[in-house]
Amino acid sequence: MPDLSVTLGPLALKTPVLTASGTFGYGCEYSPIVDLARLGAVITKSLSVHPREGNASPRISETPAGMLNAIGLENCGLESFVAQRLPELAQLPTHVLVNVVGNSVEEYATICRRLEKEEAVDGFEINISCPNVKYGCRFATEPADCRGLVRALRPLTKKLLMVKLSPNVTDIAVIARAAVEGGADALSLINTLLGMAVDVNTRRPRLGYVTGGLSGPAIRPVAVRCVHQVAQACPGTPIVGIGGIRTVYDALEFFIAGASAVQVGTTNYLDPDFLNRLPGELDGWLAQEKLSSIKELVGTLRRD
Ligand SMILES: Cc1cc2nc3c(=O)[nH]c(=O)nc-3n(C[C@H](O)[C@H](O)[C@H](O)COP(=O)(O)O)c2cc1C
Repeated sequence: MPDLSVTLGPLALKTPVLTASGTFGYGCEYSPIVDLARLGAVITKSLSVHPREGNASPRISETPAGMLNAIGLENCGLESFVAQRLPELAQLPTHVLVNVVGNSVEEYATICRRLEKEEAVDGFEINISCPNVKYGCRFATEPADCRGLVRALRPLTKKLLMVKLSPNVTDIAVIARAAVEGGADALSLINTLLGMAVDVNTRRPRLGYVTGGLSGPAIRPVAVRCVHQVAQACPGTPIVGIGGIRTVYDALEFFIAGASAVQVGTTNYLDPDFLNRLPGELDGWLAQEKLSSIKELVGTLRRD
């Protein structure tokens, strides 16, 4: 059997298959239908210090080969998460990464400080990149702000500190370098692309928030391009590729472009069984290519 294990900073994962934040609840909801033991980690819905109600509906609109969402980071808030969700998450047969969001450095820091002492939490994915909230993007678009945020969080945790990047920037490599300079162990990319759709009959936007984040297969070429650029800019930093992965071949594109692991998001809505198949399909493809480990595939893009 080929070796599917990978390492992100201080964390060793059984497989390079993770769930994308916001598409897999808090991690436990899918346990009746997804074999969580075969996943490298589950990543929770974004968590903020205070509960958030999210945006007005409609919050979702289907698009060709994808969807727009403007959920607006609805979540239960830190204290309720610790009391209600963590005990369940502690029982999961895989690692748990908490996706963290905030309006200020202090809000991000409050969550990391509080969860650092919780054994059930194996690391943090710092969401600097949500397009569906008013102050969602400052840390994702200004390199100095991004570096400053990660630098402030680094001393607060020995656990995995992974920064999730936005594609809605001129040059994603600049932000990636800033996150690594700040002390990020790993980078995950991409979050959704800013989009919009109009109902021509009513002449109204299809989303209550007007704009939303585009996800699904439509964004995959953009995501693969971003992974390639970040891999060139930040050699040695593990990358987790995200964006429109619906088949094993989609995932393989990301590994070849430079990702050490991948996350599956929108596909969980239409084909939740894909998460059960993907680790085995990766095994099968590696064996067919006579590769003994997924690590041998990472960043093997040929240019000759
Ligand atoms: C309905 C929905 C909700 C999402 N919520 C979050 C979130 O709370 N935090 C976050 O970092 N990303 C969130 N995302 C972005 C995904 O984690 C992922 O980065 C993006 O959807 C691209 O991957 P995909 O094409 O496989 O879905 C959300 C995506 C969708 C579709």
